[in-house]
Amino acid sequence: MRKKIVAGNWKMNKTLQDGMELAKTINRQVYDNNVIVVLCTPFIHLSDVAKVLSKDSLFLGAQNCASEASGAFTGEVSAEMIRSAGADYVIIGHSERRTYFKESDSILNKKVKLSLANNLIPIFCCGEVLAERQAGKHIQVVKDQVEKGLFDLSPEDFSRTVIAYEPVWAIGTGVNATAEQAQEMHKVIRDCIAGKYGNPIAENTSILYGGSCKPSNAKELFTNPDVDGGLIGGASLTASDFMGIVNAF
Ligand code: PGA
Repeated sequence: MRKKIVAGNWKMNKTLQDGMELAKTINRQVYDNNVIVVLCTPFIHLSDVAKVLSKDSLFLGAQNCASEASGAFTGEVSAEMIRSAGADYVIIGHSERRTYFKESDSILNKKVKLSLANNLIPIFCCGEVLAERQAGKHIQVVKDQVEKGLFDLSPEDFSRTVIAYEPVWAIGTGVNATAEQAQEMHKVIRDCIAGKYGNPIAENTSILYGGSCKPSNAKELFTNPDVDGGLIGGASLTASDFMGIVNAF
């Protein structure tokens, strides 16, 4: 059975003190059940937040990692460092990284491999911009991102990855994909995985939806057969909204 996952992406929000408060509150409210909850914090929060997460189903993640293993890359943070701070997950290829920091498919592929080599589970993001959807190219765009980012992994490595479909037009806009749009794309992604790695691996891959997911729409999105949870931005910044989404399962 594939895992149900709700991951919060704090982005560049929260001071260390505010982040610690939020992490502690969420830790108190998470009940160990069948949903894995991940807090993806800024780098500098990681090792402190790691110390306050005590629930078996609550995990820590980063939002990015360097595309090189170590060395003279001023300002970068490696997958190995993230792992050593206590994280189990790392978001790779968020649309904000692709757009603002010009992260290409090949750079993201390197980051995925470094994450896996350091025992981090990559949450690999993909998603089309509005113009691509309007031009009817969204399916091809997303397939391309997934293939270029992940499809040279061994079946064993691929099995350790999580995918997040995040239509760029839905991120932070208040306009979420409809349940039908999400299900359609998640099925496309799963079929694509099945074509490459076979059905058992495809069936075991968690595919999360991201983009203006909130307590009021989470249930409708998560009931789709191919939607295995969410990657949550804005609504992960308050415990009540975030837990509302976690509890939507
Ligand atoms: P949002 O962001 O929930 O604020 O739309 C999602 C994301 O960027 O991961």
